[in-house]
Amino acid sequence: MCGIVGYIGKKEASPILIDGLKKLEYRGYDSAGIAILSEGKINVIKTKGRLADLEERFKGKIPKGNIGIGHTRWATHGAPSDENSHPHMSMSENIAVVHNGIIENYMELKKDLEKKGYKFRSETDTEVLAHLAEMYYDGNLVDTLIKVIKDVRGSFAIGLICKDNPNELVAVRKDSPLIVGLGENENFIASDIPAILEHTRKIYLLNDLEFVHLTSDKVELFTIDKKPINKNIFNVEWDVDAAEKGGFDHFMLKEMYEQPKVINNTITPRIKNGLIEFDDINFTADDLKNISRAFIVACGSAYHAGMVGKYLIENLARIPVEVDIASEFRYRNPIIDDKTLVIIVSQSGETADTLAALRDAKKKGARVLAVVNVVGSSIAREADDVLYTWAGPEIAVASTKGYTTQLMAMYMIALKFGVLSGNLSEKDAKHLINELLTVPEKLEVLLGKIDSIKELAKKYHNRRDVFYIGRGLDHMVALEGSLKLKEISYIHSEAYAAGELKHGTIALIEEGTVVVALATQNSLFEKTLSNIKEVKARGGTVIALAQEGNDSVKEIADEVIVLPKIDDRLSSVLAVVPLQLFAYYCAIDKGCDVDKPRNLAKSVTVE
Ligand code: F6R
Repeated sequence: MCGIVGYIGKKEASPILIDGLKKLEYRGYDSAGIAILSEGKINVIKTKGRLADLEERFKGKIPKGNIGIGHTRWATHGAPSDENSHPHMSMSENIAVVHNGIIENYMELKKDLEKKGYKFRSETDTEVLAHLAEMYYDGNLVDTLIKVIKDVRGSFAIGLICKDNPNELVAVRKDSPLIVGLGENENFIASDIPAILEHTRKIYLLNDLEFVHLTSDKVELFTIDKKPINKNIFNVEWDVDAAEKGGFDHFMLKEMYEQPKVINNTITPRIKNGLIEFDDINFTADDLKNISRAFIVACGSAYHAGMVGKYLIENLARIPVEVDIASEFRYRNPIIDDKTLVIIVSQSGETADTLAALRDAKKKGARVLAVVNVVGSSIAREADDVLYTWAGPEIAVASTKGYTTQLMAMYMIALKFGVLSGNLSEKDAKHLINELLTVPEKLEVLLGKIDSIKELAKKYHNRRDVFYIGRGLDHMVALEGSLKLKEISYIHSEAYAAGELKHGTIALIEEGTVVVALATQNSLFEKTLSNIKEVKARGGTVIALAQEGNDSVKEIADEVIVLPKIDDRLSSVLAVVPLQLFAYYCAIDKGCDVDKPRNLAKSVTVE
């Protein structure tokens, strides 16, 4: 999704903006630009394409000036083009803006502005902001921005500079992330912390409709009624290195390798006396008795983790759980009251649909527990309780460690609720927790088998279709494996409950069609084996995953990935890792941009 960086200080702004935008590349983008204010003029340079294309436009001469705003755009309104790239200028080129999000009423605003004589240069919704700002400008930039915001509907993070206020930068956010970095004789705005971490660790996390006025030595915050806001400084404790590749070819590979360590970080501190304890979440047995049902709401991989969560919570705690895709949940009027628990799952904590679902659930009286990775993100701040996954920064667009740590959170919630509800004995809980603690070392074993996965990718990366099948928890992992493959290698892929294949999709299986069959559930092994035979009988090529000891699969499948032995309920977290690696190496063999797949964005802050 779009990225914003803004700078005001004594240094040259251009390199700071470009470096900051590079740190946000992981969010996905299709064009980039900067606006630099100097000597009473705003100099805008922007282009369709990558930041390297933007630097090419400078032709070795960076635009000089100590104040500027920069942007990477992920197209929503209007195709990726030079004209549609940000920053956008007002008609008289007095004002430049960058914007993330969507202005929903931009059509009516545009018509009004056109009637007043404003000429538009782009197809974007953002351009209305620049013209509105020019129309309302009265010398005071905060007042001007407040007036603009009062006219617009939608989501936004906005940075604005004006040639007549050469020592100021203003910004505001609503439903789209924006932070302020506090430096020595310099200050920053950015849509995410890594963009400015090189310069400062002192951050203000802006809430919705908080306006910020920056000069090089002062930062002031205001409400929409222009009341001053006092805000605590958030100190970033993680390192810039954590957001860099550390010798790996890609962030995705690094993040897959980090999984044993981060999974350990997620669970170990939450185990007290052999059972799960959440320090910051006060969930009593009475609280749980008061809950008649739960929803798990999320998007993409986080939704797949939620599906595993439903299975576990229903099995261990006997609480009915529905899993919903956030973009559907918001509009289907689900039955929610004060006896409902809504579990929101999001790596970034900024996904627009997921955030909106959270707000809707809270409005209807539900208690909201968020499972989030990014500390201080909007979802983390607005939920009643937060269970952090502590995966560290996830930069690759395709989620890997973000997803596996979400799975860990699902296990911990189910175990906690199981014991609290009296449906899971402490003895059984301790057995499962001990099994959970073996996951990191078993993942190390799987990561050690990387060469065999590379070989599989070499053999199969040029296939047109790959199907994934599995039963029970294996079905949910199949969905995630399939998503990984399609998003980074662009191979067409679908996932099915193994028993469902013969109700239609089996018609697509022909000589050589690749089917990845997950048979990691001992209790369902024989049944899945029958489904594998059905595929083989139609000429399909089967790559099977099974636990050590289930050797009969080797006689039927073409290839077998063997997983270390583990309790059936935990095999999902092992099974997904070879699937992530398979997707990764298929994408590499096809020459795809693994960390920044086409059309995708890391943090989906538009509906
Ligand atoms: C897939 C992927 C996406 C995200 C989804 C939700 O690899 O990364 O499907 O899982 O966009 O994002 P978060 O978890 O940040 O809400």
